[in-house]
Amino acid sequence: MLLTIDQVLSADEVRQFRAHLDAASWQDGAATAGSVARLVKHNQQLGAQDATGLQLGEHLLRRLGETAHFVSAALPRRIYPPRFNRYAGGGQYGAHVDAAIMQLPGGQSLRTDLSATLFLSEPEEYEGGELEVEDAYGVQSVKLPAGDLLLYPATSLHRVTPVTAGARVAAFFWVESLVEDDRSRTQLYDLDQTIQELSASLGAQDARVLKLTGIYHNLVRRWAVT
Ligand code: NI
Repeated sequence: MLLTIDQVLSADEVRQFRAHLDAASWQDGAATAGSVARLVKHNQQLGAQDATGLQLGEHLLRRLGETAHFVSAALPRRIYPPRFNRYAGGGQYGAHVDAAIMQLPGGQSLRTDLSATLFLSEPEEYEGGELEVEDAYGVQSVKLPAGDLLLYPATSLHRVTPVTAGARVAAFFWVESLVEDDRSRTQLYDLDQTIQELSASLGAQDARVLKLTGIYHNLVRRWAVT
């Protein structure tokens, strides 16, 4: 499932993020790519220990935790500390699949179930820079307003097309979900969203809403690995 989560960051927060990031010390992104990805990765990144990146990443993690739509869609068990990248001057990232396992700073590892990109440049600030994701329905080309997030299966082949004018700044991270299977997680998300809609029109105490809510939680109980 490809899913857009609108306004994870407000316009004001995007401005603050950009003020910090536009003055940050960017490094060659190829340094953190594996031997295959290095051949196709042409962008800039903030280092894993960059103080600005760490601070903004923590802010973003807090926002994600407060964003019900994100929690419902991702059912996160663990989230990789967000990193930041920048594409300009023809920069691009050719077709690749993200590594299945990522090392966390504390020495633990994380299985990448979902990949996430939070756009921090407005679409009109740059040319190109589409995130193209191959899913069951073909190639989806995505370019979102600043502050919006794209969630997509980490198993997908994806690429970032060349940025031929302006600069594309984004945050990226991975999610290990409580529910590993993408189809099961998608069904839980659809059920939860439907319950929210029914609850708004029928009331949270409606017997049918309560019954569906029970089914939702019992399916999570069945499918979640904690
Ligand atoms: Ni990737």
